[in-house]
Amino acid sequence: MAIRSIQGTHDILPGTVELWQRIEDTIRSVFGRYGFAEIRTPVLEWTELFARGVGSATELVQKEMYSLPDSKGRSITLRPEGTAPVIRAYIEHHLDRAASVSRLYYIGPMFRHERPQKGRYRQFHQLGIEVIGSESPAVEAEVIEAVIRFLNELGLDRFDVVVNSVGDANCRPAYVAKLAGAMEPLLGEFCGQCQIRHKTNPLRIFDCKVPSCRELLPKLPRLIDHLCDDCRQHHQEFLKWLETLEIDYKEDPNLVRGLDYYVRTTFELISDGLGPTQNAILGGGRYDGLSELLGGPRAPAFGFALGLERLVLLLNEGKENLDFALPAPDLFLAYLDEDSLKECVLMATRLRGLGFHVYVDYEGRSLRAQLRLANRLNCLFSCVIGEEELASGRLKLKRMSDGLQIETQPTAMDTILSQQKAEL
Ligand code: HAM
Repeated sequence: MAIRSIQGTHDILPGTVELWQRIEDTIRSVFGRYGFAEIRTPVLEWTELFARGVGSATELVQKEMYSLPDSKGRSITLRPEGTAPVIRAYIEHHLDRAASVSRLYYIGPMFRHERPQKGRYRQFHQLGIEVIGSESPAVEAEVIEAVIRFLNELGLDRFDVVVNSVGDANCRPAYVAKLAGAMEPLLGEFCGQCQIRHKTNPLRIFDCKVPSCRELLPKLPRLIDHLCDDCRQHHQEFLKWLETLEIDYKEDPNLVRGLDYYVRTTFELISDGLGPTQNAILGGGRYDGLSELLGGPRAPAFGFALGLERLVLLLNEGKENLDFALPAPDLFLAYLDEDSLKECVLMATRLRGLGFHVYVDYEGRSLRAQLRLANRLNCLFSCVIGEEELASGRLKLKRMSDGLQIETQPTAMDTILSQQKAEL
């Protein structure tokens, strides 16, 4: 039996990969304008990085990590997210010494052992954006403006910006105690998982997707109403900056996000096009304490990660069959025998060196079959080389769209091809 791909993973085939490349080009173009530089970190990290950084009571760390022992028995993990690795690298390479504020982006695969469904996979890809070293709420608004520009440049404009504040170490503990107290009398009505969360990490009940739990949320105190003065002021300034940049937003007091490192601002961009559950194109927020938690310097930071598969789903919405044409060769060189094949190969090599996309078929097909292939590949021009052409030193370049023939010598092929391409 043929071996198939692992559940929750997928291949990105030619024809679709061009869309991924367009997305990646747009990432570099847009975020480059905002001063972001690329960082590439390993796919494997010590498990401890995520346990400490993301939080050992989070679902991500408890249930979703692909972890295995290395040869010495130390646990290593396929990265489930990129923020903790980026901060590890920031500390390890003293990036704080290179610039007071580091603006970094990454594009790469992440791994989470979740139940696969539309928009949720076990290997998926994120674009991550991290600004490290700034406490400014204006930076937060700028990052959101940048990602909206990025989505607009890809042709997307139907999404909601949802924001919240989750407070900080000053105000959150007292709120969490209050929340746990308010849950007590209702505990029987919560799902089993939320009953556990009540003990381990009560804030996580806001992530619960079970409808009966969600119905109970309005009965509970809201974190946004229990912020300390500094957090409240930060939040107000953040909202003012969003307004200055004319960004429409919705406040959602239930947006606490699933990772423990967040303080103050959290946000998501959600889209109906993704369906009711996996509707977040991206999510992020402020994580001022992460660097110190991982043994580094004080480095207030803000960022987000965007699910590239979800972006691809949105870009393909309403399109039955994605038909991203494969790049069409400029020239198909057809041959009649071994001698002319050699000539074709030498000419193809020379023309490729000059920047042309040239196709030679090596399968020994008849001339008719070669020309049929040239048609199928949408080649712009074709040229047949045989005994006669070799003897006379004259070639006929054929324009595939209308059959027009242009006489040329082998050495002038590049000039003629350039002229003819320019006329198309
Ligand atoms: P996250 O909310 O866990 O945040 O993931 C961010 C985005 O990754 C989600 O909004 C979604 O688009 C995509 N995503 C997550 N899990 C899956 C999955 N199983 N399949 C497909 N797409 C998925 C983080 O990862 C944080 N590191 C974001 C961040 C960066 N916060 C600050 N800086």
